[in-house]
Amino acid sequence: MALTLVTGGTGHLGRDIVDRLVRDGHRIRVFARSPAVRPDVEWATGDLATGVGLREALHGVDTVINAATCSPIARRGGVRPVDFFRSPSAVDVEGTERLLSLCRKASVRHFLHVSIVGLEEATLPYARVKLAGERLVRASALSWSVVRAMPFYYLLDKFLSGLAWLPLWPVPTTTFDPVDASDVAAHVVTCAFDGLRGERTEIGGPEALDLVTFARQYQDARKLHRRILPIGLSDAKARGMGIVVSRGVRGRLSWSDWLRANRET
Ligand SMILES: NC(=O)c1ccc[n+]([C@@H]2O[C@H](COP(=O)([O-])OP(=O)(O)OC[C@H]3O[C@@H](n4cnc5c(N)ncnc54)[C@H](OP(=O)(O)O)[C@@H]3O)[C@@H](O)[C@H]2O)c1
Repeated sequence: MALTLVTGGTGHLGRDIVDRLVRDGHRIRVFARSPAVRPDVEWATGDLATGVGLREALHGVDTVINAATCSPIARRGGVRPVDFFRSPSAVDVEGTERLLSLCRKASVRHFLHVSIVGLEEATLPYARVKLAGERLVRASALSWSVVRAMPFYYLLDKFLSGLAWLPLWPVPTTTFDPVDASDVAAHVVTCAFDGLRGERTEIGGPEALDLVTFARQYQDARKLHRRILPIGLSDAKARGMGIVVSRGVRGRLSWSDWLRANRET
């Protein structure tokens, strides 16, 4: 049976991708730094930042789904001043380059890369790093797909929970359409095996709402009562911050349903 390697298979999106592939009967190998945590898939422990374990992980692989990333902002669930100046590139740029080169040698037949909507105009260093990694994929001689997604609900949840201590929340009035990672996983899996290649349809959530509405729904679900100070951003500023509306397929799970299903933050 054809073998699929999922890098970042222990992450928020990666776990959902692996669950879906297992459910669909695929043969899966997960590549991550963490030791094996599930018995129903093959496991390759290694490090994209150094290349340790990568060559072995690619042995016999047909399809690679690259869902690994190193985002300090996502890890901690908030932005610090340092994030406006730099973001590590060892996984998303050098790691992607290394992975692409080894995939060519291993005759991998399809390389699917997960990326983010609106990177061209986004200004945070993490976005620049993601764009550089994506460009390597597009320039590669491999048969590739790039799937771009809107920010995931888990990240919005982390950001808003980080505001809980503030009595007044400054929130942009800009519209955007975050999405559930499991809806993105379903789209990624479809794109990995539908035979098409190249720039794939981007994915956002089912609702495009202003951020103030997302924040109010969050407060209702978490029984918080904080005043919201609506902030008007210029379009350019909002795009710079990655607050955009996607133009592609829509996930199914709404923010309010996600909040009901994920009561803990
Ligand atoms: N989060 C969002 O809102 C969002 C929105 C759109 C697109 N995306 C994209 O979706 C993808 C997944 O994002 P996510 O939020 O699910 O990420 P995540 O939860 O932070 O998971 C990151 C994954 O990368 C792996 N990883 C990190 N450093 C590694 C290294 N040095 N070597 C090997 N593996 C490493 C981690 O595994 P170990 O720690 O076990 O090594 C983990 O499995 C990324 O491409 C991201 O840019 C995310």
